[in-house]
Amino acid sequence: MKNYQVLPLKYRPQTLDEIWVQDHIKTTLKRAIESNRIAHAYLFAGPRGVGKTTTARILAKSLNCVKGQSIQPCQECSVCQEITSSASLDVLEIDGASNRGIDQVRELRENVKFMPTSCPYKIYIIDEVHMLTNEAFNALLKTLEEPPNHVIFIFATTAPQKVPATILSRCQRFYFRKARVDEIIQRLTWICKKENIDITEDALYAIGKRADGAIRDAESMLDQLRVFQNNRIELKDVEDLLGVISQEIFFGYTELLIAGDQKQIIEFIDKIFSVGYDFIEFYTGLLEHFRLLQLVKLDINKNVLSISPSDIKKYEGQAKKLTVEQLMIIMQIIADNEEIVKRTLEPKILFEILSLNLLNSMFGNPGPVLKGNNQTEEPSDINALWQNLISEFTEKRPFLSNHLETAVISNLIDGNITITFKNKIDKDYVESERNEIERYFTNQIGKPVKVNFLYFKEEKSYNTSEKPTMTIKETKPIDTKQNNDISKAINDLKTSLDTDTIFKQNFPDGKKIK
Ligand SMILES: Nc1ncnc2c1ncn2[C@@H]1O[C@H](COP(=O)(O)OP(=O)(O)OP(=O)(O)O)[C@@H](O)[C@H]1O
Ligand SMILES: [Mg+2]
Ligand SMILES: [Zn+2]
Repeated sequence: MKNYQVLPLKYRPQTLDEIWVQDHIKTTLKRAIESNRIAHAYLFAGPRGVGKTTTARILAKSLNCVKGQSIQPCQECSVCQEITSSASLDVLEIDGASNRGIDQVRELRENVKFMPTSCPYKIYIIDEVHMLTNEAFNALLKTLEEPPNHVIFIFATTAPQKVPATILSRCQRFYFRKARVDEIIQRLTWICKKENIDITEDALYAIGKRADGAIRDAESMLDQLRVFQNNRIELKDVEDLLGVISQEIFFGYTELLIAGDQKQIIEFIDKIFSVGYDFIEFYTGLLEHFRLLQLVKLDINKNVLSISPSDIKKYEGQAKKLTVEQLMIIMQIIADNEEIVKRTLEPKILFEILSLNLLNSMFGNPGPVLKGNNQTEEPSDINALWQNLISEFTEKRPFLSNHLETAVISNLIDGNITITFKNKIDKDYVESERNEIERYFTNQIGKPVKVNFLYFKEEKSYNTSEKPTMTIKETKPIDTKQNNDISKAINDLKTSLDTDTIFKQNFPDGKKIK
């Protein structure tokens, strides 16, 4: 292949107008160039691959072009061409990471004294400036305090918080932002047209999501894909080549949660692990999936969601089967357990337990946070206390006891117990007796207990003629003797962690989830 240029290089913007996404920065810089209000030092901060270095070079060109300062540098003069090919003697690109010491900055301070050879300005672009040592920053500060008129600094950094305030305050600062998925898709579509690349919409979405805001990364992925796929790219290619986890996996897992089927969930997890996905990526993707379901449920404008048009219907369909409260609980449990699940050496076992917990909590009993060894919560026999309370009330307060019987109780977590009801009337009735109930638990447990009251309201369907799409479901009791996967998971976990608490929380009576 002769002169093959990778896409990010080939499509590197050469004027401010060609920069995408960063409109606020373009406007301010254009105004500054046109009105000749040029600062001595600029700081370009922002995540990777969003145009910092590119903009720095364009600014240098706009200021130094032989045909005069302009927002449309000619691109033809020797200066423009040298800057484009990084060969200019007056526009020096310095990598902060490999020139981070005091000696390099001293050398730079000596050099700034010399006039530029053929341009109005001597421009120093220091990339990853946050990597400089403290001494180097101090030396730099001296120059920044009294910069020669012909010198301009452009600092670029992905970590502005690591740049000392004394430096920051002497710079005009610009914050570059991540590109949204739809903006990345627009840019890739534009490039694909020019390159005659035939790509499907869902493939574009998958790349756009994966790029996480970095335009360069998106272009590099497209480049890699087109080489492998001969200019015809489909979703499957993106998933295979980039190891992107298919959205179908998340939909599938969620369907099983909705169906309340423990056995299938455990089998599904086994499949996920046998395919060899990156578990951390899977876990993060799952949280994102539930977030999207929640946003769809709350009817957030679809344009701001990073969902491909072909997936929108699927999200709407699945969101209908879950309540806002259930989604909240699921997301809470997944987020609460993120640290421990990502750190564990046994992600599969913990994820199995967590999934059973999710099931349990979705249908009544808000789940506990898995705890590591050094964080054990005292084992609690809340269920027995709960049964006592109900039988005590059966004689004293038969009405109250009737309402209590419909509820599910959680374990004691940080001094809190949650009682969940299937309907609001029961909840309101029992909640009016909050003091009595809290007093009971406080006395029995021997320290202050706060009780939270929850209920799951029935889903309102969008169309009033439709039946409610979801009502509270009982989870099927689980027989751990019959289900080898689960009993193995539990045994493994019991021996590998201090799991008494988790075990009791999941299987209060030793064998079934309720
Ligand atoms: N805002 C943008 N508009 C158009 N293209 C962009 C933009 N940002 C990045 N690109 C594409 O990505 C390539 C690399 O961008 P650039 O080197 O300027 O990013 P950066 O912010 O300096 O990244 P890093 O922090 O990794 O150094 C460009 O050549 C271009 O193809
Ligand atoms: Mg850069
Ligand atoms: Zn020029």
